[in-house]
Amino acid sequence: MKKVDTKIIYNAKDAAPLPEELFAAVKNGELAVIPTETVYGLAANGLDENAVANIFAAKGRPSDNPLILHISDIAMWETLVTNIPNNARRLAEKFWPGPLTIILPKSEIVPLKSSGGLSTVAVRMPMHPIAQKIIKATSLPLAAPSANISGKPSPTKLEHCISDMMGKVSYIVDGGDCALGVESTVIDMSGETAVILRPGSISPEQIAEVIGEVIVDEAVLSPLSNGDAPLSPGMKYMHYSPNAQVYIVKGSLEAFSSYLKDVSAEGSYAMVFDGEEEAVPLPSVSYGGKENYSSQANRLFASLRKLDKPEIKYIYVRSPAKDGIGLAVYNRLIRAAGFNIINLEV
Ligand code: TXA
Ligand code: MG
Repeated sequence: MKKVDTKIIYNAKDAAPLPEELFAAVKNGELAVIPTETVYGLAANGLDENAVANIFAAKGRPSDNPLILHISDIAMWETLVTNIPNNARRLAEKFWPGPLTIILPKSEIVPLKSSGGLSTVAVRMPMHPIAQKIIKATSLPLAAPSANISGKPSPTKLEHCISDMMGKVSYIVDGGDCALGVESTVIDMSGETAVILRPGSISPEQIAEVIGEVIVDEAVLSPLSNGDAPLSPGMKYMHYSPNAQVYIVKGSLEAFSSYLKDVSAEGSYAMVFDGEEEAVPLPSVSYGGKENYSSQANRLFASLRKLDKPEIKYIYVRSPAKDGIGLAVYNRLIRAAGFNIINLEV
């Protein structure tokens, strides 16, 4: 890829108007990293094949992994899909703007490059005011995957975006730390039954309250068996990983600490819950309160990035719970761990 001169727009408090040049660049097919309430996105015109191709190149993303189109109003959604079933509309009414992505059959204007060759398209209306302003000002549905290099933890802070995207995009727009910290819940509404393909801050329980039945896809919690085609292409790739080998450890804090006493390999670190640092025999980083799932979601990726250093070879992580937003945290961590789980439960 040709090296680009990246401009950073410092605007963490959303206090200043965004420059017209930014909107012009996006309309012109250029790339911009933008803040959303979930994670930072690597945005470009989702209807422009060349712009979309540049997103894939900047991330090093496999071309069969489809993108999410970000919209600012329902009228824009109607142009991107063939039909909006009632249940999809009810979910949008309840959770948009916000961290929910809805998959439906795509209309002709959505290029196959954006949808990774699929006949469906994923759409979400973000809540972050800066994301909304950019979509409104350009009147374009913006394709925006998480703004990390493919395979790395998603960026939740400006510094993560600078480290992954400097020299690859025209603009990086600062919007402060992301409020939620894990990517949106992705739900497929294109079939008879609604299926959650990726858990996020909006839980299966909350979705069931609005539409009744919803299934959580098996691939959310388990590795795909060889030869299985995933419903969500993103599920088949290694994800969210620092350089170190990550292990999820299930069981009590006592069992965790006593197991780690026998771990002597150099470069071993632990990721624990708040207040547990002193109880473990390895250097550690905490990633949230044990019962506070939102705080875990909020700090997960930044904690994994903190431990992404050449001298760190092994990371042992206290396992999160699997209910509510905990499911989203667990889903990201088992992928970071390549499904390596140490079970100390009795
Ligand atoms: O919160 C978010 O969703 C963030 C922010 C920037 O909006 N975006 C994000 O995009 O996480 P990305 O590209 O990193 O993840 C999109 C996921 C991938 O796992 C992809 O495979 C899946 O959604 N996906 C997208 N379109 C799909 C489709 N038509 N069918 C099935 N899965 C789809
Ligand atoms: Mg991603």
